[in-house]
Amino acid sequence: MKPVKKTFDIIEKKQIKPCYGLLKLYAPELAAGAKPGQFLHVKCSGTMDPLLRRPISIHAVQRSGKTISMLYRKAGRGTSMLDSLDKLDVMGPLGHGFNMSCSGTPLVVGGGIGAAPLYFLLQELSGMQMQVDVFIGASSSEHLLAVEDIKALGHCVRTATDDGSAGYRGPVTDTCLPYLNKDVQVFACGPVPMLKKLAGDMEENKAAGQFSLEEKMGCGVGACLSCVCKTYQEKEKEYTYSRVCVDGPVFSAGEVVWK
Ligand SMILES: Cc1cc2nc3c(=O)[nH]c(=O)nc-3n(C[C@H](O)[C@H](O)[C@H](O)COP(=O)(O)OP(=O)(O)OC[C@H]3O[C@@H](n4cnc5c(N)ncnc54)[C@H](O)[C@@H]3O)c2cc1C
Ligand code: FES
Repeated sequence: MKPVKKTFDIIEKKQIKPCYGLLKLYAPELAAGAKPGQFLHVKCSGTMDPLLRRPISIHAVQRSGKTISMLYRKAGRGTSMLDSLDKLDVMGPLGHGFNMSCSGTPLVVGGGIGAAPLYFLLQELSGMQMQVDVFIGASSSEHLLAVEDIKALGHCVRTATDDGSAGYRGPVTDTCLPYLNKDVQVFACGPVPMLKKLAGDMEENKAAGQFSLEEKMGCGVGACLSCVCKTYQEKEKEYTYSRVCVDGPVFSAGEVVWK
């Protein structure tokens, strides 16, 4: 769908964990037209401060209720202001989402707040009667997100935490490694070190996939170049710069230059 710039009513606010919140918007056009992996550029207050919008993924869509949800980490000034709003001024949906018609058995890997956009993807896969293997990691159980909701969709979830407070002790990439092979299509979102390790493991095991990247953003529409990342034009040859806001945020795994 074409992006809209509009103010929507916030119909539900929830504190999920100490530093995470969830907002539900009544937004019929977004609920009908948004794709997993797309994001909204959000105005965090009713004033001009902060001036720049903040990118937040579409976390969940309830098509029958015509609502969408956003799961956010209170990372700094902008996201900490979201709690106090009753209406939200958004631009979106922006960017290219996940390509769900790729071949291969879906395998989903999320780290930290990277679980946010993956839940919408898993809702869609569930709607296609697909139950998939999901690997969710975080620094500790306090930061593990969406695990019970993903299980409720019927998917098989394995968790990992750096401190061992939930699931496997160690990086989430350890837990999905045995499942990587030429027959899977990995969908991943998370911190750069996680994606970089996963990309290497995927290459070694000939697994294909798509990564949703997070970069700091300005305009959100391709004009300011503040969100660029390095991508290959041709595999392992010349690299170029792509704008995460309009060329992404989802890129194929082999396209991203990690060096
Ligand atoms: C496509 C996309 C989708 C995103 N989806 C979500 C989401 O669903 N939920 C969510 O909580 N966050 C998401 N983010 C990250 C979110 O945009 C940032 O956390 C937010 O902009 C921080 O704003 P702030 O004013 O609260 O913090 P600031 O005061 O601006 O920064 C606080 C800290 O966060 C870091 N930071 C700022 N922007 C980003 C960024 N884009 N990525 C990573 N770190 C950043 C800063 O370096 C600083 O350390 C997404 C980012 C992108 C690019
Ligand atoms: S945020 Fe301005 S070009 Fe991407």
